[in-house]
Amino acid sequence: MRPIVIAANWKMNTTPADAGDLARTIASRTRVAGVTRVICPPYVSLATVRDALVGEDVAVGAQNVHHEPAGAYTGEVSTAMLAGLATWVILGHSERRAYFGETDALIGKKLDRAVAAGLRPILCVGEVLADREAGREIAVVDAQLRGALDGRDAAALAAAGIVIAYEPVWAIGTGRTASAADAAAMADAIRASLVALGWGSVAEATPVLYGGSVTAANVGDILGQPSVDGALIGGASLKPDEMAAIAASAGITAAARGLAS
Ligand code: PGA
Repeated sequence: MRPIVIAANWKMNTTPADAGDLARTIASRTRVAGVTRVICPPYVSLATVRDALVGEDVAVGAQNVHHEPAGAYTGEVSTAMLAGLATWVILGHSERRAYFGETDALIGKKLDRAVAAGLRPILCVGEVLADREAGREIAVVDAQLRGALDGRDAAALAAAGIVIAYEPVWAIGTGRTASAADAAAMADAIRASLVALGWGSVAEATPVLYGGSVTAANVGDILGQPSVDGALIGGASLKPDEMAAIAASAGITAAARGLAS
């Protein structure tokens, strides 16, 4: 049975001065049976958020990690540095791909490093608008999955709890969302890609989230799709009212899937 996950990606927002309060508020307003909650603040707020969430069943995630264990990489953060601060990590976010030149091959190395460190990865994939308009979104996402996952050990990734997040780039921060049917079709396509990579039954057990302008208003439709297992939320994840409503919606899905007891 796949979990229902709601993951907050705060991106380059909040400061250590306000992140703790925001995390606590969101945690207190999103307690819903059967829903796995994750908050991914900026690196510099990881300790504050971790401390703010003591006693809450909310995991803390990083938004990225370097693929080397240590060394002369000015400005970068290693998995060892995240020990005790984060248990999840977002990898291959489209903003990392677009603004920081991350390639599928690099993201694969980050995956290896994250898994070795016991971090639970959220691997992001998704097409740009031109790809969707040309009808090649499934091919693009398949290539991203292949590029990051081919040759890697599905069982080890499954043991690490890998989650895939489908985030169409044209929907991120734009107010446009994929239709629920499109999100579901891509979730199915992602699992088909995993099967083609030799993942076997692990593919069906891998959670696939949707991300891209998820709000309280649209999350219900998206989570009503049996192949979609949660959401990666950016802008709305900074708003406690939105997160409360998103969690409530996720709770309905969890209950419907028998996860809430
Ligand atoms: P958004 O961001 O919800 O602001 O579109 C989602 C994401 O980038 O993870």
